[in-house]
Amino acid sequence: MTVTTVRIQRFNPDVDRKPYVEDFQLDPDQDTTILDALQTIKSDQDGSVTFRRSCRHAICGSCAMNVNGRNILVCNTPLGSVLNKKRTVTIKPLPYLPIIKDLVVDRSSFWEQYKRVKPWLLPPENVPEKEYRVSPDEVDALDRAETCIMCGACYSACQVIGMNKQYIGPHALLKAFLRVLDPRDAAPDERLADLAGDDGVFRCHTIFNCIDACPKDLDPTQAIETLRKLAQKRRRFEENRRERQRSLLEPVSPG
Ligand code: FES
Repeated sequence: MTVTTVRIQRFNPDVDRKPYVEDFQLDPDQDTTILDALQTIKSDQDGSVTFRRSCRHAICGSCAMNVNGRNILVCNTPLGSVLNKKRTVTIKPLPYLPIIKDLVVDRSSFWEQYKRVKPWLLPPENVPEKEYRVSPDEVDALDRAETCIMCGACYSACQVIGMNKQYIGPHALLKAFLRVLDPRDAAPDERLADLAGDDGVFRCHTIFNCIDACPKDLDPTQAIETLRKLAQKRRRFEENRRERQRSLLEPVSPG
């Protein structure tokens, strides 16, 4: 028998003044995932242990949690891979988000920032009669970023979010990157103007926590960097344009 200790952060706002850690012992199989362990604890030891999960196949993004200090999906992570020498693992809710109960957090700010970047396609007035012709290169550029499952692991690993909830965040900026580079979108310029604002791409401190946390190996930092360059060009273009307009208004000196 290989006794394993699963340390779970508990918090019930109806009775607890602050979160605390509770230990549960179990004897897992070799292929038990962290989610399996949580479900075993819930069904055999304490039915009040609360956590989110749905697909169990790393698709829905609902089971992201903080395990031993790292944000991961618990449904596709073997328990054995996160145990220390004492066969112990510590599971906490995603950081920087209000706790609803135990391992369940309130993701409202995450979704609000997502909506802010208008993640849907804004089509031009004149759409093609049959279909858009998008080149393979253009598709390639967008392909990988499209696989984001909105689990929140990057968002709640971002220290800028920890300091400033107004920051749009890596998840939403990755989606904005998709739309700005999408050749079918009619409003990349307006999008860049918004993204260059106080809470946008220039707020990122390039700490790379979002890359470490992403369970799909995506690179939000690179996407933010690309948006920054485009926004800078746009800003420069706009400054030059204004400068030129000002010069047109200046009186011409005689002779
Ligand atoms: S349960 Fe859906 S991603 Fe883990």
